[in-house]
Amino acid sequence: MREPSFLRTVQAAYDTYGEASRAGLDDRPLDRAMLSTFADLVRAEGTGRPIADLGAGPGHVTAHLDALGLDVYGVDLSPAMVTLARRTHPHLRFVEGTMTALDVADEALGGIVAWYSVIHIPTERLPELFAEFHRALAPGGHILLVFQTGDEPLHLARAFGHDVSLVFHRWPIDRVSDLLRQAGFTEVARMTREPTGATEKVRRGYVLAVKPAGPARA
Ligand SMILES: C[S@@+](CC[C@H](N)C(=O)[O-])C[C@H]1O[C@@H](n2cnc3c(N)ncnc32)[C@H](O)[C@@H]1O
Repeated sequence: MREPSFLRTVQAAYDTYGEASRAGLDDRPLDRAMLSTFADLVRAEGTGRPIADLGAGPGHVTAHLDALGLDVYGVDLSPAMVTLARRTHPHLRFVEGTMTALDVADEALGGIVAWYSVIHIPTERLPELFAEFHRALAPGGHILLVFQTGDEPLHLARAFGHDVSLVFHRWPIDRVSDLLRQAGFTEVARMTREPTGATEKVRRGYVLAVKPAGPARA
């Protein structure tokens, strides 16, 4: 994927994010359950390779996975978000980069989490994105994607107290699952949950999948 313009737009939006919102996991037991399951599966597979939290933002999911005992680091497109994450979690590693072109060798990662971050990738680019995830993951590596479900994207002209141009893509969970399968992943589990708290408006989708240890299935 060659540095498409949508990446600059997303980065510009998150560079103005500031410290306006730091959603935590304390009041999200189902989120914690999915992360614990992911951590258990990663440990059981024992690839010995690091886990990447892609689109880590402020880094609270990275920190949660670290607390669960995983060797994890965060990647984010926005230098401002990386600075915030490093300041908040100085014991963890956060790097600038794009999930669309990961700065890792083939099969270098033991797992991938993308927590409300693939939502900024245009739908027509998901096959290319999932091919990149497949390239970067070791056989037996797990992937956990979380996103808002729906049929239509949400276009925001103002967010984080600033004018922005930001699209939050939403997909039916079947669509994401099918695209993962076409990229060579095998689904392990999926979950939907209803919106909770003051800020959530739509149903959430979670897909947990694995890159099979044998030859990829198309
Ligand atoms: C909605 S925030 C979610 C942050 C964090 N995962 C969380 O749940 O709190 C989306 C994050 O993904 C990052 N992001 C968006 N597109 C990205 C890309 N192509 N590569 C890496 N990070 C990206 C944004 O900069 C932002 O920090």
